[in-house]
Amino acid sequence: MNVEDVVEWVNNLIVDKTGEHLTPLQEAIVTGAWQRQKYPQIAKDFHCSESHVKKEAAKLWEKLREELGEDLNKLNFRSKLEKKYRVSQASQLGHCLLQIDNINIGGQFIQTIEDTKIRSPNPPNSPQNNERSPLIDLTEAPELTSFYDRTSELSTLKQWILQAHTRLITVYGLSRIGKSALTLKLIEQTQTEFDYIIWLSLTNTPTLSTLQTELKQFFGRSPQPPLPTIIDYFRASRCLVILDDVHNIFSSGQLAGEYLAEYKDYGKFFKQIATSSHQSCLILLCWEKPREITALEAENRPARTLHLKGLGEEAAEILREKGLADEEKWSDLIALYQGHPSWLNIIAATIWELFDGSVSLFLADGTDLFLGDLEPILESHLERLSDSENKAFYWLASQNEAVDISQQPTDSDLSKSELWQAIQSLARRSLVEKILVGSRSKFQINPVFQQYIKSK
Ligand SMILES: Nc1ncnc2c1ncn2[C@@H]1O[C@H](COP(=O)(O)OP(=O)(O)OP(=O)(O)O)[C@@H](O)[C@H]1O
Ligand SMILES: [Mg+2]
Repeated sequence: MNVEDVVEWVNNLIVDKTGEHLTPLQEAIVTGAWQRQKYPQIAKDFHCSESHVKKEAAKLWEKLREELGEDLNKLNFRSKLEKKYRVSQASQLGHCLLQIDNINIGGQFIQTIEDTKIRSPNPPNSPQNNERSPLIDLTEAPELTSFYDRTSELSTLKQWILQAHTRLITVYGLSRIGKSALTLKLIEQTQTEFDYIIWLSLTNTPTLSTLQTELKQFFGRSPQPPLPTIIDYFRASRCLVILDDVHNIFSSGQLAGEYLAEYKDYGKFFKQIATSSHQSCLILLCWEKPREITALEAENRPARTLHLKGLGEEAAEILREKGLADEEKWSDLIALYQGHPSWLNIIAATIWELFDGSVSLFLADGTDLFLGDLEPILESHLERLSDSENKAFYWLASQNEAVDISQQPTDSDLSKSELWQAIQSLARRSLVEKILVGSRSKFQINPVFQQYIKSK
């Protein structure tokens, strides 16, 4: 039994018990306890305070006591777990062997959030349909680690899907802002409403026909008779399909949401999903909003877009998890880094590296926003801009305040319509924000990107 098995095993226990996965710190505690490390060492490796590790460890042991015994603590964790693991392996061996053929259909592992048993969908319109047992394949989904807040986004998405029967939902926002995490949470909370749930990533840019074949293979795993097209499955059953990293089929150097030449048929497919009548939902996760989605929304089609921004006050939980000091300064730090969970995680690591966890010292100078390890992440967005977007972006960056774009600017070589289109596109990439100044809407560059341009 190696340490990865241990972490996975404990994670599964916690998921069964609480529905939540181990946080990164809890994983570090399990790893450390297995390797018989002391708390100060775990805290040092995780860049957080020893008292924070002790507090988290106490909570974790409490959750594991039912399984591993009332006297569980860090010192006896390894021996108790080894004993428990041996017993569970012995009792499950026969059972697992019986199930392997069912689980590994087509070489792909089917998992459910609650357990690893394959489950067949109920026939559509069957009496049990208000509590469905969906067939779920999340093989291509990332793992859900820590998750805080997003209450209002989750309730918006649930309202769109369950009450308004929206057929096409786009969740777009900056890289690492939490699109996948939010959608995994949504699945956890709505899975019993569906017959099929599948997550497919477009990172390796499959053609539309490859994607459709994959979908049909997945639907074909149920005992229901096969159907000719994806829309037929969408009509016959309630399906939830998530396409992740959709920006990979968009072109760099063009306005936001323009398909690469060989992927234009995806646009038609998305339109068909929004305009045909069926009972299913397709969710697209991407960095930039696809262009035709705006038109579909404007035509009052059942298509909706969620622009995902940073976390609010709840981002403080990330800083707490990281064990940073000076809580009174946390809201300043969160505001500066826009509650972006991943940026805050990265900056928290820097604060540990440079200031031993002191947020006050990190912010003491109060001048330029520190970017450090965020730079390559910001650059990956700017690399995708078209010529006109680049010009508009640098023009906006050179202005000292938010600008009113109703008049042709004298100091830009873009025509008014080129400028408007470029700014619209930059906003669809979350790089430019519209803010209300008095009664007028004005545009400004996202301040973190503004700082990046300034520092270059
Ligand atoms: N609600 C949240 N609470 C705490 N941490 C979060 C939350 N959402 C995201 N994170 C953190 O940010 C990381 C990135 O999240 P996620 O993978 O969901 O982003 P993404 O928007 O899907 O990124 P990409 O565009 O690269 O696919 C997660 O691994 C997690 O550490
Ligand atoms: Mg993602």
